[in-house]
Amino acid sequence: MPPPILVNPQANHDGPDIMLILGIETSCDETGVALFDSEKGLLSHALFSQIDMHADYGGVVPELASRDHVRKLLPLCDEVLSKAGKERSDIEGIAYTAGPGLVGALMVGGSVAHSLGYALGIPVLGVHHMEGHLLAPMLEDNPPAFPFVALLVSGGHTQLVRVDGIGEYLMLGESVDDAAGEAFDKTAKMLGLDYPGGPRVAALAEKGRPDRYRFPRPMTDRPGLDFSFSGLKTFTLNTVNAAKDSGELDDQVRADIALAFESAVVDTLTIKCRRSLEQTGCKRLVIAGGVSANKRLRAGLEKMTQKLNAEVFYARPEFCTDNGAMIAYAGAQRLTSGQRDGDRIVAVPRWPMNTLPPIREPRENGLAD
Ligand code: KG4
Ligand code: ZN
Repeated sequence: MPPPILVNPQANHDGPDIMLILGIETSCDETGVALFDSEKGLLSHALFSQIDMHADYGGVVPELASRDHVRKLLPLCDEVLSKAGKERSDIEGIAYTAGPGLVGALMVGGSVAHSLGYALGIPVLGVHHMEGHLLAPMLEDNPPAFPFVALLVSGGHTQLVRVDGIGEYLMLGESVDDAAGEAFDKTAKMLGLDYPGGPRVAALAEKGRPDRYRFPRPMTDRPGLDFSFSGLKTFTLNTVNAAKDSGELDDQVRADIALAFESAVVDTLTIKCRRSLEQTGCKRLVIAGGVSANKRLRAGLEKMTQKLNAEVFYARPEFCTDNGAMIAYAGAQRLTSGQRDGDRIVAVPRWPMNTLPPIREPRENGLAD
């Protein structure tokens, strides 16, 4: 499917300067909603996670996800409005996740956004989920200035991007197979842990012994900024099976394997981040997406960037994983610069981020003028 056509792809400044934006995220297994005021910042946000529902199946069941978004979305919209002391009629623009993601789940957010937008006579815009993640650290007190290098690490993506402004994305490297989050989730399954695996592997790794195993750091022995995690996954599986066969696979060995796996992912990501900072000359690194909540990754990158006299930026943990605030924020940037959807709901399961149109230089407060 071609990328969605944005009406007014370049800033045309016919939009109002100040806008109250409702942000809606329904791309996967989290219903996230937020209200962002383009002058005052984030007013309120709410999230319902479907994790418990999908846990019985060991992963996300798309049809169940869509149905649950239908159940939760409007109550969550009302919740963020009442938390902020606002009415539906106060909303001046709506941003929803248009992709990438599960198409049925995306359609729920898109339908509600467009219906509400039509009823209120206000602009609506489909936002790129990974751009939402990428910009989430802008919601924090010390937001990164452009340009920076971003490491996007989620359940579906592992990408290194040079970011010169909103919509100015140069892909430096990406995973040729599994995403980092996916590797965490699969490792969790091998170790008998529930979905989603990332936080559970990280918690188990806390009890691991660092000298028991050493796993490979894939693709770090050759130049380039691409990643591959499928070999590491196989290495982990072979280690688990060997420990099983020898009767050694107790809780301690599981923790040792979790730590060896996590350390290998963290080292690999850190090496590639260092390389990308050196290659681009950037002094700022942003990490975003679910895996950026990982404490060991944050610590590894803090240490590396300090040595380079550089700085690392990330969002608070609840804004690393899927949430409505990041969509409201990204939508606010684009809606205030004049971008809008046409009449049609946009839902794009696959959507390369570097096809997004740029917007003009942000103002001091991070918003386009
Ligand atoms: O960004 P996200 O919430 O959803 C996608 O857009 O994919 O990322 C979810 C991914 C899952 O694979 C999850 O296991 C991983 O992020 N994750 C973590 C941690 N928290 C979430 N991985 C490692 N350590 C964590 N603390
Ligand atoms: Zn995500």
